[in-house]
Amino acid sequence: MKTTRETPAASAASATNPLGVRRVHHVELVVGNAKQAAYFYRKAFGFSQVAYRGLETGSRTEASYVLEQGAVRLVLTTPLGPDTWHNEHLRLHGDGVRDVALEVADVDHAFAEAVARGAEAVSAPRDLEGKEGAVRHAAIRAHNDTIHSFVAPQGYEGAFLPGWEAARIEARPVGLAAIDHVVSNMAVGDMDRQADFYARVFGFTRYITFDDKDISTEYSALQSVVMSDHARVVKMPINEPAPGKRKSQIEEYLDWYHGSGVQHVALLTGDAIEAVRRLRDNGVEFLTIPDSYYDTLLDRVGPIDEPLDVLRDLRLLVDRDDEGYLLQIFTKPVQDRPTLFYEIIQRKGCRGFGKGNFKALFESIELEQARRGNL
Ligand code: FE2
Repeated sequence: MKTTRETPAASAASATNPLGVRRVHHVELVVGNAKQAAYFYRKAFGFSQVAYRGLETGSRTEASYVLEQGAVRLVLTTPLGPDTWHNEHLRLHGDGVRDVALEVADVDHAFAEAVARGAEAVSAPRDLEGKEGAVRHAAIRAHNDTIHSFVAPQGYEGAFLPGWEAARIEARPVGLAAIDHVVSNMAVGDMDRQADFYARVFGFTRYITFDDKDISTEYSALQSVVMSDHARVVKMPINEPAPGKRKSQIEEYLDWYHGSGVQHVALLTGDAIEAVRRLRDNGVEFLTIPDSYYDTLLDRVGPIDEPLDVLRDLRLLVDRDDEGYLLQIFTKPVQDRPTLFYEIIQRKGCRGFGKGNFKALFESIELEQARRGNL
């Protein structure tokens, strides 16, 4: 049993960061064909493959690929037979995010503290063991079938985590540097409960709230709250549909994902123009924004460094807050169900999430929904 005497600094940290969360360690997706998905993320998004587990490494139940670009790590996992939990995840949700895994200072502490604060345990602390050593792991439920693993890989020298072996395939990176935020869609009435969960269990605070006055179109409306740790390293926006005339994009997601789940992962870049140029060249499909958006853009956001015609060509969106501006763009869903998509975001001082773009964006999404027969 460890005994530590808390310093004043440590006790302040435990008040604001009770679980000792450091950052998002990786995001794991369950997919129907991990080998082909890995190829897509390498060729389209410019992720390098760094590690693998599967039959060749002694994993008899699942195959799993680890992809990396900057500090972003995606893990793509697929079942190798009919009798694992992944199959039910796939049957219900299709390809989607299972785990937003968090690096913590101490897994046993994070897990015990989370459970004491009311989190549901998914997997008790244990050592993941492999040739290159052990890493402590535990998991709690976030909502529905989405979990948060806790890992403490400090000092581990292996390719990813124990169980995976180095299997390097270099790609041409597009300049993705880090995970900026991970957004969940919740059913009507569940947004506040989920925000309370992050406040109570993680000590996160409400960063920004949007309501349907901010985010509504002729058809759809949503409410959103952003929960974040005090260091603003882990940012978790949570959406729920608000009453609209027709089916909102959040309801469409909930219908096809069969409940709450991760709607999008926002990937931070230092050069959105270059990143989006390369992603488009690689065949990544983005939402189409009407030309008229650019006619009034500079009136809305004021002076910006980037040439307007380049932004218009790439269909990059711009929004500003008191502290600066951001560039952002959203992919179309990356699987057949209208569920998970990605955002590419560059922050030039702005700490917001693109509120000024929601209307243009949602009108674009509604065009797509109508084409899918879901509006
Ligand atoms: Fe976002």
